[in-house]
Amino acid sequence: MRILVTGGAGYIGSVTAALLVEQDHEVEILDDLSTGHGEAVPDGVILHEGALQDDDHLDRVFAQPFDAVVHFAAFSLVGESVRDPLKYWRNNVGGTLNLLQRVATGGARRFVFSSTAAVYGEPDAVPIGEDAQLAPVNPYGHTKLAMERALADAAEATGLSAVALRYFNAAGAWGGRGEDHDPETHLIPRLLRSLLSEGETFAVFGDDYPTPDGTCIRDYIHVRDLAEAHALALAWAEQPGFHAMNLGTGDGHSVQEIITAASRVTGLTVAPPVQPRRPGDPARLVAANDRARRLLGWSPRRSDVDSLLADAWEWHRTHPAGYSG
Ligand SMILES: NC(=O)c1ccc[n+]([C@@H]2O[C@H](COP(=O)([O-])OP(=O)(O)OC[C@H]3O[C@@H](n4cnc5c(N)ncnc54)[C@H](O)[C@@H]3O)[C@@H](O)[C@H]2O)c1
Repeated sequence: MRILVTGGAGYIGSVTAALLVEQDHEVEILDDLSTGHGEAVPDGVILHEGALQDDDHLDRVFAQPFDAVVHFAAFSLVGESVRDPLKYWRNNVGGTLNLLQRVATGGARRFVFSSTAAVYGEPDAVPIGEDAQLAPVNPYGHTKLAMERALADAAEATGLSAVALRYFNAAGAWGGRGEDHDPETHLIPRLLRSLLSEGETFAVFGDDYPTPDGTCIRDYIHVRDLAEAHALALAWAEQPGFHAMNLGTGDGHSVQEIITAASRVTGLTVAPPVQPRRPGDPARLVAANDRARRLLGWSPRRSDVDSLLADAWEWHRTHPAGYSG
């Protein structure tokens, strides 16, 4: 297939683009490098450097239509979205509408979209199924839900086949590509970076949650497993319509379990300070993943905590300053 990957210079997008190249697809990337890295673009892949909001740029990129679009490009810092929500609506929703406009007028027949567990907000019950109430609690989640709805409406009107993949906590590294965000807000890279540099701080926020060890439980999914789900979704997306699927392991791990695994994998003592709870952190967020298993034939293969941490540790140890060093 001829595939456009937006955000393909970012963390999950670059690992997915590399897998699609491995599978002999013809891949092109559209990315403005606002949070991504040119070094992450797989060899031989064309990088159309520019933003989704740039109409002339999109006209040039879509001069020759694609079979499919995989849409990762978005801003995704929850705290920043609370401080500057319009930046998120402009980039995430505005950019997606521009892209969908091109897709709806013959630019592609298949569309796979990076959605997020944040569309569920703070659910009443876990594991969280796709039919759970959609009630995001921050502007980032609001923009992702709005993008899903725009996609569903466009699929209904045009016969596009659209799959929204709702990731839980992406983690790990693959093929020389890993997490290099600034600021970094995710638990595993923050923890591992604090072991490599004295300047990087790491703390546990709350150890009095109603969980077995008192720390929050999240569902960590290896970036390579995410990439495989995208490849399967592209092959599966033949029927017109909109489909949403969770991507998680269905098996959560507490912050304390991650810390224990980090000391096992690195051989270092990991004993971070405990600070008070942060507002808005639910005790437990775990995916029900039966739909992706059943429809796509997908299953996580590398998301056990030791593999996740070993792959992430290898990336951070060999790239202490990310892609720049
Ligand atoms: N990392 C996670 O745990 C996680 C979880 C759930 C959902 N997601 C979603 O997955 C996607 C990828 O996440 P990531 O962690 O790889 O993020 P990332 O920041 O590493 O990658 C995003 C890429 O999109 C590009 N981009 C952003 N806005 C753009 C625009 N308007 N035009 C062109 N390029 C643009 C950036 O330069 C970057 O390369 C995002 O949509 C994110 O919301 C991520």
